[in-house]
Amino acid sequence: MTQETSGIERVAIIGAGTMGGQIAARSALAGKEVTMFDALPGAVDRCRERQERDILPALVATGQFGDTASDALSRIRPATSMADAVEGAQLVVEAVREDLAVKQEVFTELSHLTDAILATNSSSLPSSLLASATENPSRLVNMHFFAPIWVRTMLEVMSCGQTSDEVFDAAMAYGRDLKLTAAAVRVESKGFIINRIWRAIKRESLRVVDEGVADPHDVDRLFMIFFQSGYPPFGTMDMVGLDVIEDIETSYQNVSLDPTDTPSAVLRAMVEAGTLGEKTGSGFYQHPTPAYRQKSFLEV
Ligand SMILES: NC(=O)c1ccc[n+]([C@@H]2O[C@H](COP(=O)([O-])OP(=O)(O)OC[C@H]3O[C@@H](n4cnc5c(N)ncnc54)[C@H](O)[C@@H]3O)[C@@H](O)[C@H]2O)c1
Repeated sequence: MTQETSGIERVAIIGAGTMGGQIAARSALAGKEVTMFDALPGAVDRCRERQERDILPALVATGQFGDTASDALSRIRPATSMADAVEGAQLVVEAVREDLAVKQEVFTELSHLTDAILATNSSSLPSSLLASATENPSRLVNMHFFAPIWVRTMLEVMSCGQTSDEVFDAAMAYGRDLKLTAAAVRVESKGFIINRIWRAIKRESLRVVDEGVADPHDVDRLFMIFFQSGYPPFGTMDMVGLDVIEDIETSYQNVSLDPTDTPSAVLRAMVEAGTLGEKTGSGFYQHPTPAYRQKSFLEV
């Protein structure tokens, strides 16, 4: 039977960067009591400013929540230490930088400080890699949230291999508490669900261009019409940053069993030339007004 609500009222967020700030804000708006801790002095204050200025207004504007931004902000308490943050928490969500050694250290410390459910928001590290660092891994789980959390209203939950059913169900239910669509990742999977699918789209789009079959703008035009989407592959790669895309591609290729899964020549050349997409003003499109966002892009 589906567990309707998680029963989790108090959550600690470790890491007050891009994702930590968004998960904390959405949790608070859903009525949770939230603590936030970051190892970098001043990071929690800066995160609070972003929450007040950008994140909470964007979440409130979705109309999904009845509460106000200021009520939500009053439920987010900056913590002075990891111990302070986890005091009384039923769930801890780790959102520190994507570095296995750093995360392992955090989980070792957390598992000594609290009996709470321990979740990692890592985009690429399965929680099985954190199990040996964690006492009692039956309470360890991947909870993969997405940015921006007011648009990408979804959550992927993946077991560490030893996660108890109770913890897995509570993690899924916590997503629903936050009005997110929660999906169960049933087998350990690099890229969980959606990043694998996005990767397949990226890889094939790049291959089509590498082979000279089509140019990137035509690929995007067809994609936008076929999938009725405003987010075409090359436009989205520009948004993410082509250097980041190359890193992600390399990390998948490193574990791929497919011998034809080779780096894209077009992508590599663009990264070498320093045309990285939105962040450099030029990539597959010219920014900040890329052609695919203009009405004329799809006009016949
Ligand atoms: N940014 C995204 O779009 C996104 C989406 C999904 C998942 N993620 C995942 O979320 C995690 C965080 O990513 P982010 O983009 O928010 O990173 P970020 O760099 O914006 O924030 C990370 C924060 O962690 C803090 N930190 C580092 N070591 C710490 C420690 N030992 N203890 C406490 N705080 C520490 C840093 O000071 C920083 O404020 C990563 O695992 C990433 O894979 C990111």
